[in-house]
Amino acid sequence: MSDAHPPGSPDIVWQKTTVGRAERARAMGERAGQRGAVLWFTGLSGSGKSTVANAVETRLNALGRLTYLLDGDNIRTGLCADLSFSDADRQENIRRVAHVSRLFWDANLITLVSFISPFRAERRLARDLVGEDFIEVFVDAPLEVCEQRDVKGLYKKARAGGIPSFTGISSPYEAPEHAEIHLRTGEESLEQSVERVLAYLRERGYIGK
Ligand code: ADX
Repeated sequence: MSDAHPPGSPDIVWQKTTVGRAERARAMGERAGQRGAVLWFTGLSGSGKSTVANAVETRLNALGRLTYLLDGDNIRTGLCADLSFSDADRQENIRRVAHVSRLFWDANLITLVSFISPFRAERRLARDLVGEDFIEVFVDAPLEVCEQRDVKGLYKKARAGGIPSFTGISSPYEAPEHAEIHLRTGEESLEQSVERVLAYLRERGYIGK
């Protein structure tokens, strides 16, 4: 939706710019050989989203591709520091990140987004904003596996009643039904997951051959 803009105040008029996505892509693409995309990693806490996203970004960077990784835990320290984990605040969290990812996509960056993003409706919003370059990556690990890993000790705390509305325990996670890439991180290795994402980008011409 390159020229569709969400309704705001009637007193706000969208300002057209001379340099747009096509011009930026031309300036950058000839050197970097890349096409902007949004890789949207969704999954339970501890499913491996950030680990896979970080490893994919590291590989892309080594290939000389320009990337940006938006990570839930990090964005919640700044842009979204005012938000809790209520349904409404998670919706607002994802709404903001969807718009930021669209801007980064518009800048022709390969943008990696790593948020639980538990609700289909907000992931749909992000998909609609970005369009055909939106690539949903379902980082799928069973709750038992995430809970067993419990890298941050949050599941233990949530089970003990110390964290209200914890995803998978006391707050829902709506699994994607049509993700472009479905990673099963409980079964495949990190290397395999990373290779599958890179293969997808390569096959579709996002990072050259
Ligand atoms: S989202 O649901 O709004 O998309 P987001 O990805 O930003 O979540 O943040 C998730 C991270 O916040 C988790 O990885 C975890 O470290 C931390 N966290 C703290 N409280 C909660 C909670 N109630 N539910 C899920 N994650 C939580």
